Amino acid sequence: MRRLVLFFGVATVVVIAAAAAVLWIWDGGRMQSSAGEALVGGPFALTDQHGQPVTEQDFAGRYMLIYFGYTYCPDVCPMSLTNMVAALDRLPPEQVGQVVPILITIDPERDTVEQLASYAPLFDPRLVALTGSEDEVRAAAKAYRVYYHKAEAGADTEDYLVDHSTFVYLMGPDGKYLTHFGLNASPEEMAETIGNEIAASS
Ligand code: NI
Repeated sequence: MRRLVLFFGVATVVVIAAAAAVLWIWDGGRMQSSAGEALVGGPFALTDQHGQPVTEQDFAGRYMLIYFGYTYCPDVCPMSLTNMVAALDRLPPEQVGQVVPILITIDPERDTVEQLASYAPLFDPRLVALTGSEDEVRAAAKAYRVYYHKAEAGADTEDYLVDHSTFVYLMGPDGKYLTHFGLNASPEEMAETIGNEIAASS
C-alpha cells in the first residue's frame, strides 16, 4: 500500500513537471503570432524609483532591456539583473547608451518607490525600476505575456514568494519586440545579440 502511494505520488509529480515543461516551452515559443507580428509588448504606465510617472514613450528611440521580477526574490531576480548589467557592460560605448535596463516589479505590494530606490542602485545606476498599482502592474505584465503568482503566504504575510516568468525582453527603439533571453543566456550571448540587433538597424 505504501509502495502504491509512493508510486502515485511520484507519477503525479512527473506528470505535473512534464505538463509545466510543455506549457513553459509553448509559452516561450509563442512570442509572435502566426502572421509574424509580435505578441509581446505594448503600452505601460508605471512609476519609477524616483516617484516619476513613466510610460513606454519615455524610452522611444532607445532599446529597452526589460525584466519582470521583484526585490524580495531570493535568487533568480538578482541573478537575472546581474546578467543584464553584465551584458550591457560588454557593449561598445557607442551602443551601451542606446539600451535602458528596466526592472518592472510584479510585487507592487512590497516594491514601493522607496523600496525600488534602495534596490536598483545595488545593481547599476542605469537600472530603471518601475512599480505601480496592482492594476497597472497587471496590465504591464499582461502586455509582455508575463506570468506571476503570489505563493501561499505563511503566518507572516509580509514573507512570501512570487512565482514568475524569467525572460529578459529586448524591445526596439519603436517599442516593438525584438527578442528575448532565457535564464540560461550568458551575458556574452546577450551582449552579442543586442549588439547585432543595434548594428542591424543602424
Ligand atoms: Ni525572481
